[in-house]
This record gives sequence, structure tokens and C-alpha cells, in this order.
Amino acid sequence: MSELALTAEKLDAADELAAKRQEFTLDDVVYLDGNSLGALPVAVPGRVEDVVRRQWGELRIRSWTEGGWWTAPERIGDRIAPLVGAAAGQIVVGDSTSVNVFKALVGAVRLARSAGPGRDEILVDATTFPTDGYIADSAARMTGCTLRPVAPSEVRDALGDRTAAVLLNHVDYRTGRLHDLPSLTAAVHAAGAYVVWDLCHSAGALPVGLDEHGVDLAVGCTYKYLNGGPGSPAFLYVRTGLQDRFDSPLPGWNSHAEPFGMRADYRPAAGALRGRVGTPDILSMLALEAALEVWDGVTVDAVRAKSLALTDFFLECVGEYVPEGRVECVTPRPHGERGSQVALRCPDAGEVMKRLIERDVVGDFRHPDVLRFGFTPLYVGFADVERAARVLADVLA
Ligand SMILES: Cc1ncc(COP(=O)(O)O)c(C=O)c1O
Repeated sequence: MSELALTAEKLDAADELAAKRQEFTLDDVVYLDGNSLGALPVAVPGRVEDVVRRQWGELRIRSWTEGGWWTAPERIGDRIAPLVGAAAGQIVVGDSTSVNVFKALVGAVRLARSAGPGRDEILVDATTFPTDGYIADSAARMTGCTLRPVAPSEVRDALGDRTAAVLLNHVDYRTGRLHDLPSLTAAVHAAGAYVVWDLCHSAGALPVGLDEHGVDLAVGCTYKYLNGGPGSPAFLYVRTGLQDRFDSPLPGWNSHAEPFGMRADYRPAAGALRGRVGTPDILSMLALEAALEVWDGVTVDAVRAKSLALTDFFLECVGEYVPEGRVECVTPRPHGERGSQVALRCPDAGEVMKRLIERDVVGDFRHPDVLRFGFTPLYVGFADVERAARVLADVLA
């Protein structure tokens, strides 16, 4: 057994989260793609079966009230809240991240405008996941704003008294770079603007501290580190102090103050449920609720500590096994700048990832030349990491 394999054994033996792996359906594959689609928690199939057979099949319409279907978006939002550092009553679950980006960004511009005229610019992370950029462009056209794509490192200089809203990613989906949420949020506020954070790659992976840092609005998906399943509903955070003024661009009947009043005029509900739109996708939502049970007894700090140990160890193994110069790490080394993934650049990345997957090491390829490996501390161990680096070295050789 190699030195590094022995180290992996010791690290796994000392890992306080190791037992959590049993709460997931996994096989012998090294699964480093939880930043695309989290693994299946064992509690989910039984819950979905109950939702379909008993709640839908037997209770039918009664489940909306007696079974808690109607209040699921807020209830599940409150379950996610501590994972992103939010007190209860500020998160609703529903719709996709893309749709929530739209609600949050248009809502942020409207908040800025309600304070006075002259705010006619939206700043967007120029390196963002494409959907955020597309939606920001449409939101800008709809609100009569100019859209300015800027690199996150240039946001501070780009802010000014014309800035209405800023849309940023907490962790870059391609490089795994962690952006400085506290100081960027403070800078946006100092300019009198509102900030929307996309937490897709940080929710469930590292501490976010939404309340602590005074974030205005945030969105995130639940199918990555929260393991909610393919297409599971996203979440929208609106900080308490803004909820009364949050003017959603999608005011559906589910966010009406009196949804069953069937009134022609719209009057928004109080609180976070103002972010709701239409009938929630109950099957996906309740699958997510079951998936969130794996977080019982787990702190995000423990997850973060293991995540950094996993990514450090992966970089160490890659450094040891992979020939010099064959890959270039594009994920920052300092812990304060690293999410829960490692991205390696290599010219033939698409082909390399195909061959890794054939050999049971599953990461993903991001165009044009990035091998992306996600580390989900709830089910990835150190032996997985050592094996992934060893197979990668073999494939590259
Ligand atoms: C940062 C980021 N934002 C948004 C999305 C897209 O979200 P959805 O397809 O759920 O709307 C993704 C998907 O991977 C993402 O990584």
C-alpha cells in the first residue's frame, strides 16, 4: 500500500462524518459529481412512495391541508435556513434557480428604485453560470437598466450611484473559486445598491452566513450539495427587513395574502412566502424534504472542515501521482478562496473525463478544457480521493 493510501486510511478512520455515507445509496464508484447531482439519500424512495401511494393515492385532496402540502415551501425553506445561516421565515422553496434569479434580481431593482430615481445599472458576474447572465440581461431590458458584466474582482470599482442591483456567485461553477461574500455585500450596500447571491455551489458545502452578513436576496439549487434529486426545487431568500417591500415580478396566486379568496386584485402575503408563485411541485419538494434529513446532527462547519481536508488531500495526491505539467489546477489554493471542488485544466479534458468515468471515477467536464471534481463531505471519503487521483494519473499516462 502506498504512503498516500495509508494516509487516506488514517484520515477515514478519524473522520467524524464517515458514518453519514451509509445514509446514501452508493456503490463502488468514486462519485465526485455531487456538485452537479447529489447522490440519493436512502430515505428518499420510501418517502416518495408514501407521498404517491398514501398521500396522493388515498388522501388525495386532503393532503393539501391535512398532509402539509400547502405549507411545504416555507416548511422546507426553514429546514434549509440553518444550512445557509438564515433564521426561519426568510426562505421559500419552489421553481428553478433560474426562475428565482429572475424574481430576486427584478425584485432587487425595484427595491433600489423605491428608494429614489437614478439607479439604472445592473452588475453581473462576467464569469457567471450562463443562465444567470441570460436572465440578468432580460431583467435589465424589462426594468430599463443597463447590464454591465464585470469580473468579481472588479465589482468594487464598478459600483456607483447608478448601481441598482448586483448579481454574484458565491462559488464559481467552473473554477471552484469562493468569492468574498461578506466584503462584497458590504461594498454593494455602501454604494446604496442591493445584492443577489447565487448559492448553487455553496449551499450545503460551506458556511454562507446570510443573516450575519446582511445579504439582501439569495437563490440556490437543492440538487447539488443538498441532494434533493434531479430538478428538485430551488430556494429564494429574502431578508426579513426587505420582505414588506419585496415586489415580486411573478405575483402568482400562491403568494396572495388570501390565496383562496380568488380576488381579481393582487395583495401580497406577508413574509417570505411572497416569493411563491404557483402550485408547488409536491413530488420533488417532498423528495427534497426527505433528503434533508441527512443533515440531522451535522453542522456546516464540520462539513466545511472535511471539504477542505478532502480538496487539500486531492491536490496532494494529484501532485504526487500526476506527471508535472500535465494538468493545471485552476482552483485557488488558499482555503478562504476555495469552494468544495477542484478544477483541473488539461487540453484533452473531454476525452480524459470519458476515460475516468469508464474506470468508475465520476467527475464532469466543463467546456472547453476543465475537469471538475466535486467533493461532498457527507459521502466522499479520503480513500475515494486517493483512488481518483491514482486513476487520473493512469489515464493521463
Ligand atoms: C451557479 C448556477 N446557477 C444556476 C444554475 C442553473 O439552475 P437551474 O437549471 O436549476 O435553473 C446552475 C446549475 O448548475 C448553477 O451552477
